[in-house]
Amino acid sequence: MDSIFVTGATGYLGGYTCARLLELERDRPLRLLVRCDSREQAVRKLWKSWQLHMDLPTFSQAMRRVRIVPGDLHAPGLGLPEPTRAELVGATESILHIAASLNRKSEHACLNTNLRGTLSVLTLAREIHEARGLRRFSFVSTVAVAGQREREIVPEDQSIQWDRRQYDPYARTKAFSELMVEELLPDVPITLFRPSTVLGDSRHPRTTQWDMVRAFVFFADLPALPWGPSIRQDIVNADYVGDAIATIHLKDRPQFTRYHLSAGTQSATTQQILRAMVEHTGQRGPRFASRLQTPFDQTLRALDASLPKGAPQRIAGMLKVFLPYVTNDTVFDNGRVISELGRAPVPFTTYCADLYRYAKAQDFRFPYQDLPEGAVAEILRETP
Ligand SMILES: NC(=O)c1ccc[n+]([C@@H]2O[C@H](COP(=O)([O-])OP(=O)(O)OC[C@H]3O[C@@H](n4cnc5c(N)ncnc54)[C@H](OP(=O)(O)O)[C@@H]3O)[C@@H](O)[C@H]2O)c1
Repeated sequence: MDSIFVTGATGYLGGYTCARLLELERDRPLRLLVRCDSREQAVRKLWKSWQLHMDLPTFSQAMRRVRIVPGDLHAPGLGLPEPTRAELVGATESILHIAASLNRKSEHACLNTNLRGTLSVLTLAREIHEARGLRRFSFVSTVAVAGQREREIVPEDQSIQWDRRQYDPYARTKAFSELMVEELLPDVPITLFRPSTVLGDSRHPRTTQWDMVRAFVFFADLPALPWGPSIRQDIVNADYVGDAIATIHLKDRPQFTRYHLSAGTQSATTQQILRAMVEHTGQRGPRFASRLQTPFDQTLRALDASLPKGAPQRIAGMLKVFLPYVTNDTVFDNGRVISELGRAPVPFTTYCADLYRYAKAQDFRFPYQDLPEGAVAEILRETP
């Protein structure tokens, strides 16, 4: 059976999406582009990402449906030798391009991964489409492509406006990638997914992605927040995002081309989130001090520029980058995905306290289980 070619399967959302694809499509193989020196390393990287979703026996079983395609978005032609590329062209029915650099501070990383990398994936897609027809090309983008906004509800089709300023190179390169997808695959059915802030899982408090969780915990622990109580936070649960990407990618005829995977107009205000935290943790939450926003921003910028490289500088840099996103009171209409899936995301207020407690108890570290040597050898024997 022809397979789905997926990039970014070792990442946070790639893990959610692949786990859901494997559940929804009981037979279809997944061909996964994995950056690796060996197939053994690829298996270990996949286990690291996917153990959030499955136990070892389920993983071993899942790997029977996986074909590892060693490659790199930075390498010419994705670094695929000719026979591998020919085999991919002959065996791929659709492409799900999830991989990206989320390094909002690095123009260099975003240019190479998000622009050059996406162009290489699109070149492969064209080759497949011309050889045998591609059922669908799905691209995981971000709501950040909407650029700098203040107090807006952004609909999907008014998101990218080229004369609007972007917050960072990540947003710029993702917006241009969307344009490349539309321009270079005019004759292929395409789907563009734009998740908002993906934070935690509504079914359990475990997570392997800590950047946004760190920022959330940091702000929840401050004595005063440098913005107002009515500022909305468009936060969506990762399980909803993974399900939406997998389900819509598999559909023959999704209703739309672009989907915000977001909380939309149901986004909680900062005050509602803090109330939920107080209710569930019993801790007193921060007060609101919006007049502190400018000095807070200036302090973060100064710390980011002056601190020597290390954890405090990284945290200051990360908060500096996130601050505009959490203070702009902008949400992303999600009527399309709700209509497509028949359900809305789970409100962050229902699970934020559990996530907060888990992150602190774990000291922001997921208790990864190593893959036993015997299991690696068996998986490698069974995985083509
Ligand atoms: N997480 C969010 O809150 C969020 C919100 C909106 C949109 N998104 C979008 O969702 C997608 C996935 O994000 P994520 O949070 O899952 O990110 P992530 O955990 O950092 O995963 C990134 C994935 O891309 C792969 N990758 C990076 N550079 C590569 C290269 N040169 N060659 C091959 N693979 C490469 C990584 O592989 P390695 O394992 O080898 O590094 C990893 O599998 C991205 O397109 C992002 O823009 C995420």
